[in-house]
Amino acid sequence: MQFRTHNCGELRLAQVGQKVILSGWIQRVRDKGHFIWIMLRDKFGETQLMLEEGSSATDLIETARSLGREYVLRVEGLVVERESKNDKLPTGDVEVKLSAIEVLNTSETPPFTIENETNGGEELRMQYRYLDLRRKPVQDALLLRHRMLQLTRQYLSNQGFTEIETPFLIKSTPEGARDFIVPSRLHQGSFYALPQSPQTFKQLLMVSGFERYFQIVKCFRDEDFRADRQPEFTQIDCELSFVDEQEIMDIFTGMVRTMFKEIKGIALGDFPVITYEEAMRKYGSDRPDLRFDMQIVEMNNMVENSGFPPFDKVVAEAGLVAGINATGAGGYTRKQIDALTEYVKEPRFGMTGLVWLRVNEDGSTKSAVDKFFDETQRQAWVELFGAKPGDLLLILAGDAAKVRLTLGELRLKLGKELNLRPRDVYAPLWVIDFPMVEWNEDEKRFDSLHHPFTAPKPEDLHLLEKGTARSRAYDMVINGWEVGGGSIRIHSNEIQQRIFKLIGMNEEEYNHKFGFLLGALKYGAPPHGGLAFGFDRLCAILAGTESIRDVIAFPKNNAGRDTMLDAPAIVEPNLLRDLGLSIQDN
Ligand code: AMO
Repeated sequence: MQFRTHNCGELRLAQVGQKVILSGWIQRVRDKGHFIWIMLRDKFGETQLMLEEGSSATDLIETARSLGREYVLRVEGLVVERESKNDKLPTGDVEVKLSAIEVLNTSETPPFTIENETNGGEELRMQYRYLDLRRKPVQDALLLRHRMLQLTRQYLSNQGFTEIETPFLIKSTPEGARDFIVPSRLHQGSFYALPQSPQTFKQLLMVSGFERYFQIVKCFRDEDFRADRQPEFTQIDCELSFVDEQEIMDIFTGMVRTMFKEIKGIALGDFPVITYEEAMRKYGSDRPDLRFDMQIVEMNNMVENSGFPPFDKVVAEAGLVAGINATGAGGYTRKQIDALTEYVKEPRFGMTGLVWLRVNEDGSTKSAVDKFFDETQRQAWVELFGAKPGDLLLILAGDAAKVRLTLGELRLKLGKELNLRPRDVYAPLWVIDFPMVEWNEDEKRFDSLHHPFTAPKPEDLHLLEKGTARSRAYDMVINGWEVGGGSIRIHSNEIQQRIFKLIGMNEEEYNHKFGFLLGALKYGAPPHGGLAFGFDRLCAILAGTESIRDVIAFPKNNAGRDTMLDAPAIVEPNLLRDLGLSIQDN
C-alpha cells in the first residue's frame, strides 16, 4: 500500500489538479454543515482536507463525521485552490478535496490538545510525553538537537578528533556529585558506579596516544535538581595532547561559533576572557551574565568613619561595602524597594539590610541614609557609580564573600525585572584562573573546585598546600549559564599524589581509588588537557528555552522521576535476593 505521494507540508498551488495521497494525524475537524474541513498533520506540516455536501460521496461524509482528534488517516483526493487562503500555513493556498478516507487507527481523546500552545500542564505532558512530542515546538527542539549532534561530530572530526566510547559500568569518578551505583550479581556486595563523566578514561586515552578524543556521552550525577540539571545528561567530552589553555579555548570558541552560525545564523562577537577573581569582584558570580553591565562597585574608602554604624562596623572588620547601579530603576516605589530588601534578607543571603539611593531627575539625590551622608557625600557616590538621573543605587555591607554573592543575585534579579536579559542576545565568555581548592567546613578539609586531576598554575605550585594556588581550569559561560568547563591536567605522578593528599586522601585511599591512573602517569603521559560541554545546556540556549528538559526527549521531572514509566520503582524481591540485597525495615 502506498501511504503517501506527498507529505503534509508540501502541497502548493503548483500541485493544483493533481491526485494525491497523504497520511497523518487529525489535528482538528470543523463541521460547518455544508462543508467539512479536516486538518491533517504529519512531521512535515499540516494540510487542509475538504468534503462538500452534495458533491462528495455520502458515505465519505459519514466517515468524516465519525472522526476525532488524533485519528490516523490515509486519504486520497484532488488538490484544489482554496477560496479563503491561510497565509500563516505554508500549504495554506490549497486544500485536498477527498475521494477516499481510510482510518489507519482510532485515538482516544488526548488528555491535552496537541497544539503549539497546549492546555496541558508540565506534569500531564510528561506523563504522556509521547503525545507531547507530537507538538511542533517540542519536535523542533529535538530536531535542533539532532542538528547540533551532527555539527558537533562534523566540527570535531574535521579538527582531527577521534570518537571513542568509554564504559558505563565503572568505578567512582570524582566530579563532586553523588554516584549512582549498580549492584553486581556475580560479585555480591560489590557495586559499579555509573560515570559522572568519562574523565579518567579520556586521560588514559591521551596516555595511549590518541591525541584528540571526543565523545557525545551520557553522564550520571545524583544531585539536587534545577532547571539546568538532570540526573542523566549529555556531555560533549573532549581531551587533547600537546596543547595549552589558549589552543583549547580557541578550538572550542570555534565550535560554539560554528553552532551559532549554522543553527541561528548569528556571528557571535568576542569571547572575553576574565579571571575568576575578577568575575567574583565585578559580578559576584563565576558565571556572569554579560548581556548587561551593572558591575559591583566597592566603596569602603568612601564610607570610612561615616557615623553610620552598619558601614563603620563592616569597614572596621575588613568586610565589604559595595553596591550596584540599577540603571533606570529610579522610579521604583517604596514597596518595590522593600521587596528587594526582603530578598537580600532571605536566609540564603543573610544580609541585615539594603541601603538605597535614588538619583532624581534634577540630579539631586534621596537615600535611606540621608541623616548620615550629606548631599556632597552622596554626589561622590553617584560619581563613583557613574549613575544618571533616574538610576537607583543599591548598597550592601557585610562579609565580603556574602556581599558579592548577594549583589550578584540581586544584579540578575534586577536584570530580569528591567528587561536587560533578552533571550535573543548572546554574551559568551571564558572564565579562567579558578582556585585549585575550596575549604569544606563540614569535613574540615579542602575540596577540588574542578576535579583533582586539574593542574595548578606552575607559578603557584608553592602555594598548593596553603590552599591558595590557582588552577589551569577554564569555563565557558553564555548568558549566565556554565555551558562547559575543563582544564590542563596533571601529567606528573608526583604532583598528582600531592593533590590527592591536599584534598584529604591518604596514600592507601588514593592508590585504591586511582591506582590505575597513577600507574598510567608513570608510563610517559603526555602533557594534556580538555573540557566537556553540557550538551543539553547548549541546545537549550540555542532553542531559547529556560529548561534543559525542553531539549531532552524523555527527561526526568523535578523530583528525579520519570512519571511516564513510573521510575524509579520497587523491584521484585527475587531480583534483590539474587543480588544479595534486601530492603530492611527499620
Ligand atoms: P563539569 O562537571 O564542569 O566537568 O561538567 C561539564 C559540563 O556539563 C554540564 N553539566 C550538567 N548538565 C546538565 N545536568 C547536570 N547535572 C550537569 N552537570 C554538569 C555543565 C558543565 O559545564 N570531566 C569534567 C570536564 C573536564 O574537565 O574535561 C566535567 O565533567 O554544562
